[in-house]
Amino acid sequence: MASLFGDPDARTPLENAFRAASGPIALAALFSCFISMLMLVSPLYMMQVYDRVLASGSKETLLWLTVLIAFAFIIMALLEVARTRILGRVGLWIERIVSEPVIGAIVERRLSGGSPGAQPLRDLGMIRGFFGGGAMTALFDLPFTPLFLLALYALHPVLGYVGFGSAVLLFTVAVINERVTREPQKRSERFAVAAQSYVEATTRNAEAVRAMGLLPGVISRWREASDRALSAARRVNDLGGSIASGVKSFRMFIQSLVLGIGAYLSIDGQVSAGAIIAGSILLGRALAPIDQSINVWKGVISVREGTRRLNALMRLMPPPKDTQPLPPPTGALTVEGVTIYAGERPEPDETPILNRVSFASSPGTVVGVVGPSGAGKSTLCQALVGALRPFSGVIRLDNAALHFWNEADLGPYIGYLPQNVELIHGSVRDNIARLTDGDAEQVLAAARLADVHDMILRLPDGYDTSVGENGARLSAGQRQRIGLARALYGSPKLIVLDEPNANLDQSGEAALIEALEEMRARGSTIIVVAHRANVLSCADRLLVMRDGAVYFEGPRDEILERLYGPRAATALGGQTQQRVENRRQPLELAK
Ligand SMILES: Nc1ncnc2c1ncn2[C@@H]1O[C@H](COP(=O)(O)OP(=O)(O)O)[C@@H](O)[C@H]1O
Ligand SMILES: [Mg+2]
Repeated sequence: MASLFGDPDARTPLENAFRAASGPIALAALFSCFISMLMLVSPLYMMQVYDRVLASGSKETLLWLTVLIAFAFIIMALLEVARTRILGRVGLWIERIVSEPVIGAIVERRLSGGSPGAQPLRDLGMIRGFFGGGAMTALFDLPFTPLFLLALYALHPVLGYVGFGSAVLLFTVAVINERVTREPQKRSERFAVAAQSYVEATTRNAEAVRAMGLLPGVISRWREASDRALSAARRVNDLGGSIASGVKSFRMFIQSLVLGIGAYLSIDGQVSAGAIIAGSILLGRALAPIDQSINVWKGVISVREGTRRLNALMRLMPPPKDTQPLPPPTGALTVEGVTIYAGERPEPDETPILNRVSFASSPGTVVGVVGPSGAGKSTLCQALVGALRPFSGVIRLDNAALHFWNEADLGPYIGYLPQNVELIHGSVRDNIARLTDGDAEQVLAAARLADVHDMILRLPDGYDTSVGENGARLSAGQRQRIGLARALYGSPKLIVLDEPNANLDQSGEAALIEALEEMRARGSTIIVVAHRANVLSCADRLLVMRDGAVYFEGPRDEILERLYGPRAATALGGQTQQRVENRRQPLELAK
């Protein structure tokens, strides 16, 4: 089992990206040091102007000082631009480098029963935002608060104390603010998400909502959720807003107070006139990052959590596949003791959905899979095409376990029609050609084989018709037939069809059987789940499933005979010759 998952000690792509980015980040930190140092220039300028220029009346000194400070500010501006660019690019670069493995890991995790949703991508976006936004620069600026307080202290100890005291006070208020608004903030977000997803979920059933007059009920339920979100948000606004305006007034007051104290000290001759102004500027600089510190701190925590989640997710990725490309498969399929549970790990005493399923099939064979609902037929199909990873047991294609194959290499050799056909947003052609540029000939061939060519031509834009989200613009039958064409595209070696005839009419069914026979003649291995006898008429073998296990397996007629006696087999055999005018009686197999 361990070999299926990644090496827990190996570094994840995110860790590698952080490592690679550490150089540029250190450079940005260095720029931040220079920027903070340069910020001392403007109080110094003030002191020189007030204490030297005004005293001496030298316009030349003033000119040179001004040229100097202009130069310093230009350097500072350049450094700031460089710093912002570096950090912004680091964020984008990390997201770009890591999003591919993250999407792969999300898919991988879903296949093994997890449901990570889009959270990993949100985490990644948050990490990008942390670098690109102001949080990182604020983090770099924070250590310089003591530097400015120290400079203030150097002007006069009293100024230093006042500065330090107000910094501590502001920080305390910021912490309290965060504490009291945290809960309502979380509540508000939670309710808002609930209200939004409620609307999303119900509007997906718009027809039912309209047809049965559910709208007033929908609205009143939505309003309940949204009212709760709003009242929590109001609390956050009221509290946070009053604290924020209090803090702002306090800061402005302190800045004036420092001026006053400076003036007082200056009257006593303890500081120069320039120091009054310089002190006020220094205080402003010292206090500025404190407001942000809480947000920055929260950002650091979220980034750390997000990083932890992403690393954990990516550690589940299987190691890179063997780079030795395998030869194209012939389609020989073996299923050896495959057991699958509903979740990633079985609960104690949990009954598996598939219980030690074994069988084999060779190229040019059609295996019909039958069994009552819930027998595990669809689960078996998903496992056969590698969309579900067995908990134990192995599925082999030409002796190579499915997970040895690189998915991108294997995909073209597999055709899969799920029971609930999910089309991908795009055109009919995109869907049939599996989102590749697609060979037009092959798209046509697949469409003809699936007998959908004429139906597609009747669509508004033919092959260019957009299927809508999840294929919503098509009927179930149309979706299924396009799904069949997609499964047949490129003559795959292994074709797995899960109830392909569920929405087909008689002529569609006849076409399906013809397609199956054509693919069999081309040497594909075909697994087809079917309820109705018609489709089974072209099966070579039957696999009867029950309660997640193989009940019977063998040549079709032998199995039919075992289940129903000799007449059933003969009846079906007769149908094979004159299948088109078929009665559509359900084959109540294995009930
Ligand atoms: N993702 C899942 N989580 C939990 N149970 C599942 C899941 N998928 C299928 N099942 C259960 O596994 C059983 C087999 O389902 P399925 O393979 O769809 O059967 P069939 O296609 O033969 O009707 C059913 O009892 C179903 O409820
Ligand atoms: Mg099914």
